[in-house]
Amino acid sequence: ETEEDSQMYKSYAEIVSSLPFVDSWGTKLVLYNGLWAIDELLPGIIAFRDHFKARETDIIVATFPKAGTTWTKALAFTILTREVNHPSSPTHPLLGFNPHSCVTTLEYLYMGRENLMPDTDVLNESPRLFATHVPYSFLPKSIVESGAKIINVSRERKSTFVSQWKFYGDIWEDGDSDSLDLEKYVDLFTSGISLYGPDWVYRAEYTNASSTNSNLLLLSYEEMIEKPVENAKKMAEFMGCGFTDDEVKLGIVDEIVKLCSFDNLKSQQVNKNGRSFSMIDNKHFFRKGQAGDWVNHLSPEMVSKLEKVAGKDNGQ
Ligand code: A3P
Repeated sequence: ETEEDSQMYKSYAEIVSSLPFVDSWGTKLVLYNGLWAIDELLPGIIAFRDHFKARETDIIVATFPKAGTTWTKALAFTILTREVNHPSSPTHPLLGFNPHSCVTTLEYLYMGRENLMPDTDVLNESPRLFATHVPYSFLPKSIVESGAKIINVSRERKSTFVSQWKFYGDIWEDGDSDSLDLEKYVDLFTSGISLYGPDWVYRAEYTNASSTNSNLLLLSYEEMIEKPVENAKKMAEFMGCGFTDDEVKLGIVDEIVKLCSFDNLKSQQVNKNGRSFSMIDNKHFFRKGQAGDWVNHLSPEMVSKLEKVAGKDNGQ
């Protein structure tokens, strides 16, 4: 780390310490330019925004947390590297590494928190594949200006909320997510306070940007669940590596979908016992993997709050 770097991080840390904050979701969230972020992560988010140099050939998976990041990383990685890593190979990287170890989340990289990288040499060449949770307005200018490709996945709000509530309960409250008071968290979420929230701002920014940025692909978790093959094809086409007729005939797309399926990834040893981030066990990234699980958790009042949130959109 150079002297300049440490000065830079010091100035970011000073910004962070002056921001409004709340203690929630098992952590400290600070409000910066309309974005709620974990205080310790915000310097990485700002450093990424101000310093990352995108290439035109970069591909960025952009998701709200719990909207399908792990799955989309797995699919994009497998699609992009299928010539070197055949999806049915017994040594495919996804059988030994969690998808988060295969695709770097850029703001974590700027925090220096990324670890356990497999051999991703192929991805150091163009095209590079990365991910981020930041809203569109926080993307580095170079991503938008270079014409780098962005794949945004959105998920219906109630399911995203339940998934976040379960996840943070599991990782921060010792495996007992019900100890995070559900009602309180519905109120926090619907007042915009969640990681990378408000979720309606996040959603609106990517949706609006898609009308002017032709390098932005919008996908939905629910549609991916319903039509995985079709969505994998759409993704490949957008990434500039569409499937050939021969590949389709040989069943490569189905193999990719199967490799990246919830049941297959969840059952891998690395995802049962491994760890990709310093604090998080991989198993927490695989909970139920279904559309609409919120029906099992939310009362009619909670549903109504989440659907009417701030009157901004319907959360689809
Ligand atoms: P649930 O909590 O509803 O089960 P993220 O990857 O953005 O953290 O999102 C996690 C959500 O995606 C969790 O949802 C998780 O179970 C689900 N998920 C993880 N891998 C998946 C896969 N391969 N296919 C479908 N859903 C997956």
